[in-house]
Formats: sequence, C-alpha cells, structure tokens
Amino acid sequence: MPDFQSWVTTHQHRFEEVLRHLLPSADVVPQRLHAAMRYSVLEGGKRVRPLLAFAAGELAAADTGRVNAAAAAVELIHAYSLVHDDMPCMDNDVLRRGKPTCHVEYDEATALLVGDSLQTLAFQLLAGHRLNDDPLRQLEMVSLLATAAGSRGMAGGQAIDLASVGKQLSLPELEQMHIHKTGTLIRAAILLGAYCGQPLDAARMEALDRYGKCIGLAFQVVDDVLDSEADTATLGKTAGKDADNDKPTYVTLLGVQAARQMAAELHHEALQSLAGFGEAARRLQQLADFIVLRKF
Ligand code: IPE
Ligand code: IPE
Ligand code: MG
Ligand code: MG
Ligand code: MG
Repeated sequence: MPDFQSWVTTHQHRFEEVLRHLLPSADVVPQRLHAAMRYSVLEGGKRVRPLLAFAAGELAAADTGRVNAAAAAVELIHAYSLVHDDMPCMDNDVLRRGKPTCHVEYDEATALLVGDSLQTLAFQLLAGHRLNDDPLRQLEMVSLLATAAGSRGMAGGQAIDLASVGKQLSLPELEQMHIHKTGTLIRAAILLGAYCGQPLDAARMEALDRYGKCIGLAFQVVDDVLDSEADTATLGKTAGKDADNDKPTYVTLLGVQAARQMAAELHHEALQSLAGFGEAARRLQQLADFIVLRKF
C-alpha cells in the first residue's frame, strides 16, 4: 500500500485532470463566465472532500470512474460555496487559495453566476453519469447531495453564520451552525463515495456516517482554530477574518486550547467509528488525522 502522501498526491493530480475535462472550456461562449468557473475550481484547494469520497469508494470497492463523478459534484458545490462565501455580502474576503477571490479577479455578478453554474453542473454530473447499477440508489444520491447543499444543509448553515455576526451563540447553537455549513457536505462526500460501490450492510453504513459526522464537524472546528492561529501565506486566505467580521467561532466561545481539545475528541470518535473495518479503512483514518492535524 503506498504511503499516505503518495496516495494523496496521485489522487489530487488525477482528479485535477477530471475537473479540467468536465468544466466547460474558456473558449466556449460565454467565455468570461467559463474562465471564471475554471479559475475558481482548478489549481487550488486541498481536495479533502474528493479524497474522502475516494477513500470511502475504496472501502466499498467502487469503480473509480463512478467515484470521480460523485467527488467532482461535491467539489463543485464546495467551490461554489467558497466563491459566494467570499463575496462582499458575506465574508467580504479578497484572497482564496492563494489568489484574488473570484469577485475581485472578475466582478460580483460573475461570481454570483459562477456559483449558480457550478451548482447546476454538479447536479448535471450526478444525473448524467452512471453512479450505481440501481437507478433508485442513484436518485437517492442526487437527493443526498441536494439536501446537503441546500437550506437544510450548507446554504442553511451559511444563513445561520450570517445571522450570528456580533452575537454570542451557545455551544449547541454553534455546533448546529458548523454541522450545517461544513459538516453536511463532508458527510455527503463520504456517503456518496461509498454508494458508488458495493452495498455495505446497515451497521457499516451507520459507522461510516458517524465517522462523517465527527470529521465534518472537526473540520470546521480546526478551520476556526487556523483562522485565529495560522498566517495568511500558509492558509492562502486572510487569517484573522473571523475576528475581523465578529463571527462566533469555537475559538471565541471556548478559546484555542479547548477548541483543539474538542477537535481531538471528535477525531478520536471518528477513528473509533472505523474500528470494525480494520485495514480497509486505513485511508479514512489517515484523512481524519490530516483533517485534525493540518496546518492549512
Ligand atoms: C474551507 O474549506 C471552507 C470550509 C468549509 C471551512 P477547505 O479548507 O476544504 O478549502 P480548500 O478547498 O482546501 O480551499
Ligand atoms: C465557510 O466557512 C463554510 C462554507 C463556505 C460553506 P468559513 O467562512 O469559515 O470558510 P473560510 O474560512 O472563508 O474558508
Ligand atoms: Mg463564511
Ligand atoms: Mg469565509
Ligand atoms: Mg473559516
């Protein structure tokens, strides 16, 4: 089995080609919109959600072509969420993935349309590729991503985030906000990867789901910590932005120490959920380690 870093690099490079291929060419009308879509998706990002989908797909012996389509759909939704998250009406950020944000490089209307177009392209992918031999299962997968991205998932979490500026949330309220804005899409990446493969029994799906929930929440707790502790050059996005925008985070509520402790507990629970899978879940274990211990 290749070491973790080689596995990550191999998948990142392969997946970059997948994305390059499926995004409309910048020569195609309307060129500026297509160029902005490519700008916002390609050559950047850790690709954590696709990597989670690939790892879950490996666990279920899924066909790589199928997982590519599911992983790309999730990554397109994620990229769209970042483009909109950075707009002046939301977090008002100028730097993303080490480059000017989409609305700075292009303009606000284009950034809006990039989000719209990436979101619909994601669903076009899920509908247009065979993801599972069972068409009903495939429909469930489309529905799963729609729920994870919509007002009961990511977009809803973003609404809670914006409504919380300048407020002190309780710990359960903050947890709900983070689960929605970030956790649901990460969980969906894992489940979609698994659903591309051989059916897993209910207990195994339940364990995978628990892993997804824990690591999805941990991801945003660590994002909060990094926002307060890391520097802009390392992050490729503006450090200290949450404090500037007066956002309630795990750091403002608990302090850095306790926020890190919370991430460590979620990490532990995520790993425990994988216990029954043995060696087959090695990549998911390593991704959990990466998500919690990352520096960017
Ligand atoms: C940033 O996500 C936004 C959050 C949901 C916290 P990532 O840290 O996965 O961003 P990229 O894709 O690597 O740029
Ligand atoms: C973003 O949370 C979550 C989504 C984009 C859905 P943040 O606002 O903390 O993400 P960053 O820190 O700008 O990447
Ligand atoms: Mg935000
Ligand atoms: Mg932001
Ligand atoms: Mg953040």
